[in-house]
Amino acid sequence: MTVNPKQLAGERAAEYVEKGMVVGLGTGSTAFFAIQKLGQRVLEGIDICGVPTSELSRRQAELENIPLIGFDQITRIDLTIDGADELDPHFNLIKGGGGALLREKIAASLSDREIIIADESKVVAHLGAFPLPVEVIPFGWKAIQRRLAELGCHPALRRSRDHAPYLTDNGNYILDCDFGRIDDPPALEAKINAICGVVECGLFIGLTDRIIIGKTDGTIEERTR
Ligand code: A5P
Repeated sequence: MTVNPKQLAGERAAEYVEKGMVVGLGTGSTAFFAIQKLGQRVLEGIDICGVPTSELSRRQAELENIPLIGFDQITRIDLTIDGADELDPHFNLIKGGGGALLREKIAASLSDREIIIADESKVVAHLGAFPLPVEVIPFGWKAIQRRLAELGCHPALRRSRDHAPYLTDNGNYILDCDFGRIDDPPALEAKINAICGVVECGLFIGLTDRIIIGKTDGTIEERTR
């Protein structure tokens, strides 16, 4: 039987959810399995409340009958379970490949604990092979693109299948910024977020407590910070 490493990681993370928790529901193909497992646990009777980080995750959670609560109704989250596009040995991440980086980062910032789930392909020695997603307001985006390029990257406007600019759940654009190897993620995050018109970037620094990596051989590796 073939194992799905993303499913292994997602389902293991769901075991950390306890009765009464407010749970941040991440976005992506790995978070999908965590939400699915949480749906099973709700069916079995666990009393939790989910905070979805995207419209996609909200729809899935609704189908799973997970009780939901919005960001405007909470001040903190007990535990968020989310995926990542890259993760380095220092628990720094690149996120936003699925376009949900802003709500994911708000959830992470409000969370007592953040568990990141991934397969082995996401583990890197240095961030940067995956182009860094930066959410920007549509107004004046070309000027913002130039400012980002001055930081030493090639920022490409993300497009939808119909070639129109991709729109986030917040109605913004995403510039995917190919920096190559990122040597100082906190410094880069500060420079990017200082550009007027940038809403948020996909560098997640110091926000992760535990990483769960599902492997193709059926094992699971857990790292704690
Ligand atoms: C969504 O915006 C992203 O941050 C995802 O968490 C990330 O892209 C990981 O997605 P997968 O689990 O689908 O690889």
